[in-house]
Amino acid sequence: MFYPEDTIEEVRMRNDIVDVISGYVKLQKKGSNYFGLCPFHNEKSPSFSVSPQKQMYYCFGCGAGGNAITFVMEYENYTFLEAVKLLADRAGIRLPEAEDSPEERQKSHKRSRILEANKLAANYFYYQLRHPQGKAGYEYFKNRALSDDTIRRFGLGYANKASNDLYQYLKSKGYEDSLLKETGLVTIEERGAYDKFWNRVMFPIMDVNSRVVGFGGRVMGSGEPKYLNSPETLVFDKSRNLYGLNYARTSRENYILLCEGYMDVIAMHQAGFTHAVASLGTAFTPQHALLLKRYTQQVVLTYDSDGAGVKAALRAIPILKEAGIFTKVLSMKPYKDPDEFVKNMGADAFRERIAQAQNSFLFEVDVLKRDFQLDDPEQKTKFYHGVAEKLLEFGEALERDNFIHAVSQAQGIPYEDLRRLVNQLGARLIGRPRSAAYGGRREAGKKKEKEDGIRKPQRLLLTWLIERPVLFDKIDGIIGVDDFIEPLYRQVAEMVFAGHKQGKVNPAEILNHFIQDEEQYKEVAALFHARLEESLDSGGQNKAFSEVVYRVKKNSLDYASRNAADIGELQKIIREQAALKTLSITID
Ligand code: CTP
Ligand code: MN
Repeated sequence: MFYPEDTIEEVRMRNDIVDVISGYVKLQKKGSNYFGLCPFHNEKSPSFSVSPQKQMYYCFGCGAGGNAITFVMEYENYTFLEAVKLLADRAGIRLPEAEDSPEERQKSHKRSRILEANKLAANYFYYQLRHPQGKAGYEYFKNRALSDDTIRRFGLGYANKASNDLYQYLKSKGYEDSLLKETGLVTIEERGAYDKFWNRVMFPIMDVNSRVVGFGGRVMGSGEPKYLNSPETLVFDKSRNLYGLNYARTSRENYILLCEGYMDVIAMHQAGFTHAVASLGTAFTPQHALLLKRYTQQVVLTYDSDGAGVKAALRAIPILKEAGIFTKVLSMKPYKDPDEFVKNMGADAFRERIAQAQNSFLFEVDVLKRDFQLDDPEQKTKFYHGVAEKLLEFGEALERDNFIHAVSQAQGIPYEDLRRLVNQLGARLIGRPRSAAYGGRREAGKKKEKEDGIRKPQRLLLTWLIERPVLFDKIDGIIGVDDFIEPLYRQVAEMVFAGHKQGKVNPAEILNHFIQDEEQYKEVAALFHARLEESLDSGGQNKAFSEVVYRVKKNSLDYASRNAADIGELQKIIREQAALKTLSITID
């Protein structure tokens, strides 16, 4: 669905960014800007700034930045449309419905009805638990040492022994069969309708906004399956949902505890570890990792200590690494899972285990070791080779060396010997197509550097022009919009130049044009906030600015000369290239 651009711009304009963000973050005025603790990463001193002039926010710590609409998207984990709707409501703007396609309107209507039905079901289960018919469930939770507070916080409930009472209840609330089918809460057959959950204690699964998206139900005692979960529905995507994240995301710890199950998360929260989440039965996915990345840079894995838990940890580690999350692994031994551990050992002992958590690479090496009988010299050698090959995963020499040190210490392998083995193996692997050898990564690095040499000056020049509009006069006749050869920057330049001509560059408005593409808007937002070298004296600033202008022009002319259509055009470019050598620009 699309809204006209001026509607979106009206929504943005009518929501002052300081007002909007103040609803979520405590802000303090300093000079012309406001500062507060960044909601997008964990920090102790405020590096999150909001500019009323630009109507933009920016975090100098984590680089998050944007306008009022992107703030709501990021904070609430909303889509663009959901954010626009929220802000339109807030400002009392009526959004046109007309441009919804009928299918889309139907789908979003269905989605919200499923969410409503889920919420009613959660209330129903909760009510049952608190009444005589739910005694078995309540006692089950009490036996597992959950407090009433915890039961309330997680909305735990009970599905009783009647075979279709939930179905009847939801019917009485006006939900038709076709919709109820899609909630996954009932199965409807020719012979009748049945509740999916029956004689089980119930765990509502909430998304980051605490909307009930599905359920897990556990048998009380033994029985199969131990947990029964809602199927995926229009509102429940298992690979994108983490149990407990609605609470964990507001925790002020700078890492997240990742566990396997419902009861682990709940027991952790009850013990004061409100930064625990679980991926619930399904394997941990890259989407899970990206979701976590929004809230933290570090994860402590608290998977079960059994074989299945170790296997799951070995699968999760590379996924977390790929997402740029630093991972440690906590040992629960001699207990099976975090729930049993805190119950037996208490919160302080668990806190100690967190402090002792092992770097995930060293954990992987420990696990690898289990495959070898180290009293057999041949097997021992194989293990060392395996370790050396693993160490080649580190593309960066210094990092690799740090790990060679750490592994040699942890495994009692002489450092020099291990280092030599790694280098030998590395030399052998170079030239192979596999990127395990570090050669491959170095190439990629070079390509990126070159690209940056083109993009960076354009980026800097835009930042200068936005920060100091007087500089437009200085580049008049030298740099035009066409000199921005990176397509994204060219688009921004067009708007910045046009804005300047009309007397005012409007960053938050410009950003709106890129808002539907997360990568783009982040890059554009960064333009409006990149810090200039304020620390330089005026001579230094002159030099920096003229260098940037020179680079942009040179790259643009080089690009043009590669694409020149005829000899006449080429000659013109060559004359310009010669003239560029004598270019002299000063700021003041
Ligand atoms: N799970 C599931 N279906 C099963 C078994 C497990 O969906 N039949 C998921 C549940 O989300 C569960 C998690 O996998 O929480 C971990 O399973 P397990 O270790 O067997 O259960 P615990 O979390 O230890 O549950 P409990 O303490 O209640 O026995
Ligand atoms: Mn358990």
